[in-house]
Amino acid sequence: MLIKKPADLRESDVTDQSLYLRRREFLQVAGSTAVAMATVGGVPAFEGTSTVLHAQNPSARKLENFTKSAFNTDEKMNSYKDVTTYNNFYEFGLDKADPARYSSTLRPSPWSVVVDGQCGKPGTYTIEDIMKWFPLEERIYRMRCVEAWSMVIPWVGFPLADFVKRFQPTSRAKFVKFTTLVDTKQMPGQTEPALPWPYVEGLRMDEALHPLALMAVGLYGEVLPNQNGAPIRLVVPWKYGFKGIKSIVRVSFEESQPLNTWQRVRADEYGFYANVNPAVDHPRWSQASERRIGEFFKRKTLPFNGYADHVASLYTGMDPRKLY
Ligand code: MTE
Repeated sequence: MLIKKPADLRESDVTDQSLYLRRREFLQVAGSTAVAMATVGGVPAFEGTSTVLHAQNPSARKLENFTKSAFNTDEKMNSYKDVTTYNNFYEFGLDKADPARYSSTLRPSPWSVVVDGQCGKPGTYTIEDIMKWFPLEERIYRMRCVEAWSMVIPWVGFPLADFVKRFQPTSRAKFVKFTTLVDTKQMPGQTEPALPWPYVEGLRMDEALHPLALMAVGLYGEVLPNQNGAPIRLVVPWKYGFKGIKSIVRVSFEESQPLNTWQRVRADEYGFYANVNPAVDHPRWSQASERRIGEFFKRKTLPFNGYADHVASLYTGMDPRKLY
């Protein structure tokens, strides 16, 4: 993966995180009636909050009625600005700032996802259908990029397991493959051979069914900004960030292990599993520590990104040096 130092990043703005937290607490405690009352009479209940939340995306649509998850970390969240301006999305360029700058060409609506392969209910489903099927949850996850930086992001989505089960995979379905849109008009970076397009990722079936794996449709309580993979993307918090494929248009149930994009490009550096592992270095750099975006000092990287208690048993008996 091409590496750029986050030197051009400004310090994260802590104010917006605390405002966000206060607003969430208030909404939970007070409920919608109090919110409505608080805005009656022209008194803005959360003056400043919406400015902060919408700083990058004034027309962002709020997601309603999502619950909090038992899996949430209580670590300090990165700001909306960090999360939406320091991105990897090669379909819009290789610089971390490119996705925020250039992804306005992506049209997340209308959008549909093709489901095919070894399953009982293949078909083409609109994003509106999909959003109706599953209750939304907020999942505040540590995210660890293979490039040794990390963030804490409040995603909103639903368990991938629920999505998978709905399509009734057959006993021959051993893997789930995910594919990103190909459209050079919407994704101008696809006119360059930076990667073979489309971007492809995959999970073993037991990984896809693990309750931590999430299909995200939002972050910070709003629909996903284009640069973060609108309208629907994968989030697998115990794996390196490249597994989190964005702007998904196809989900396929497969008998054999899919060849994911980064493995296809550099199989010696990037594998299929990509479990966060401080003990197995990348051939060109250490994975023992990471820089949390917005922080100065590095912190130690944890096995499975801190989710070992939940997921380590999925990999019993596997050699992480061979199956990286
Ligand atoms: N998905 C697609 N389609 N294209 C990409 O270039 N980059 C991956 C992943 N998903 C990528 C992608 C990488 S390397 C990372 S680290 C994460 O997206 C970054 O997600 P974020 O920008 O929302 O933090």
